[in-house]
Amino acid sequence: MKRANIRQLLTAVLLLLTGTSMVTAQDNAYTNGQNEQIIKSQQAFREKRFGIFIHWGLYSMVGQGEWVMQNQNISYQEYPKLAQAFYPANFDAAEWVRSFKQAGAKYICITTRHHDGFSLFDTDASDYNVVDATPFGRDIIGELAEECRKEGIALHFYYSTLDWGRADYPRGRTGRGTGRGPQEDPENYFNFMKSQLTELLTKYGDVGCIWFDGHWDHDEDTVDWTRDSVYRYWHYDEIYPLIHNLQSGCLIGNNHHLDPFEGENIQIFERDVPGQNTAGWHEGGISDLPLETCQTMNRSWGYRITDNNYKSFHALIKYLVSTAGRDANLLLNVGPQPDGSLPEAALERLSQMGEWLQTNGETIYGTRATLVKPQPWGVVTHKENKMWLHIFPDELASAQTEGKIYIPYTTDRKIKSAKVFSSSAPLKFKQYKEGIFVFLPKGVETQNIPDYIVELTFNK
Ligand code: GLC
Repeated sequence: MKRANIRQLLTAVLLLLTGTSMVTAQDNAYTNGQNEQIIKSQQAFREKRFGIFIHWGLYSMVGQGEWVMQNQNISYQEYPKLAQAFYPANFDAAEWVRSFKQAGAKYICITTRHHDGFSLFDTDASDYNVVDATPFGRDIIGELAEECRKEGIALHFYYSTLDWGRADYPRGRTGRGTGRGPQEDPENYFNFMKSQLTELLTKYGDVGCIWFDGHWDHDEDTVDWTRDSVYRYWHYDEIYPLIHNLQSGCLIGNNHHLDPFEGENIQIFERDVPGQNTAGWHEGGISDLPLETCQTMNRSWGYRITDNNYKSFHALIKYLVSTAGRDANLLLNVGPQPDGSLPEAALERLSQMGEWLQTNGETIYGTRATLVKPQPWGVVTHKENKMWLHIFPDELASAQTEGKIYIPYTTDRKIKSAKVFSSSAPLKFKQYKEGIFVFLPKGVETQNIPDYIVELTFNK
C-alpha cells in the first residue's frame, strides 16, 4: 500500500472514531459545543481584539480577487491549470508572521480552501492541492502553522463550505457558469469536507478557530428553509461535533450573516461592525458570543491588481477602535501577491498600526465595551477600574458637544481621575447620578490623530 493510501486509511479510521456515527448534536456528550476549553478559548479570543485575515490561493495569479472563477465563468477544467504555474518564490512564512506580529495582531486566519476548491495544504482527500498540483510543492499551511507555533501566535483556518469546481457539491446560487457536471453527490461531498477538516485539525497543531464561509450559497433554494433544516442540510450537526471532538478548544465561526447556530462559538460580521449593516448582508442580531468583524484594507479580499483603494492609516485605526468599542475583534485582511509577498501598501499600514498599538494597545487589548454604547463622538472601552473614551476628532466636530462630552454611565463607583491618555494631562470632569461630563481642552477637534483618548480611573 502506498504511503498516501495508508494515510487515507488512517484518516478514515480517525473519522469513524471521532465522527458522526458516534456523536450527534443531540447526544449528551455534545453540549452545544460549550465546554470548559471553549470558554477558555472564547476568553482568550476576546482579549486578542486584532487579527489578520489572509486570502490566498491560485486566484492571486489572475489578480482579480478570489471570486474570479465565478465572476468570469471560468471553466472548472481550465481554472486548475493555474496550479501548474503556481510557484510563489518569495513566500516566507517567517516574514509574514513577523510583519503581522509587528502590526500588533494577535492571531492569523488563513484561507485553507476557498470557493475555487483549491487546497493550500497537503491533503489526501483531493489532489487539487498545493503539494500535489503545483510545481511549488510546499505545504503553505504547514509552514505557516510551524511559524505561528514558534512565534506563539494563534492560527485560525478559513474553510469554504461551497465549491465551484467539484461535481459532487450540490450547486447553489454561485459558480453556475463553471461547467461542473450535473452529478451532485452531497454525501460524498460532505465526507470529503469531513476528511479535510480532520486533516486540518490533526496535522497542524492547535487550531484557534475553524471559520466557515459559503452557507449563503443556498439561501435562494426553495426547499423548506427553517433553521433546523438548513442546519442539517449543511451537516453542521455532524461537522461541528467532529471539530470539537478533534480539538475541544477549537472555536467555530460561520460567516452565514444570521444568528449563530448551535455549536458555534463566535459570531462573525462581514464588512460591518456589529450593529451596523452598511453592506446589507446581516440578517441576525448581536449574540452573547465573542464577536468578530472582518474587513478589507483596500476593497478586495484576494489580490486584485487594480485595487489601490487602500484605507488610510487613520481610517484603519478608527475601524479597529470602532470594533473594540462594540466589544468585537477586528480581522483585517491582507491579500498576498502571486509571488507570496505582501503588498507594499498593506505592509506600510500594518507597521503604522503596530506603532500606534505599541502606545495605545492598553486601551484596546483585553478590554470590553459593554458599559457604554457607541456615542456620537466615539466609543468606550474598559478594563478593571479604567475606562477609555475614544473620541474621533472628525466625529467630535459634528457632535456639537460644546467643549465637553457626555458619557451616559451610571455607577456607584466614583471617578478618581480623568486625563488625556497620550500626555497624562489632567482633565476636568463632573460625575452625576445619570452620567459623566468630561471637559475637553480647546482645539481637540483639529488634532491630526485618528483617536483622542481620555482615561478615566474609578475607585475600585
Ligand atoms: C465573502 C466572500 C469571500 C470572502 C469572505 C470574507 O463571503 O464570499 O470571498 O472570503 O466574504 O469575509
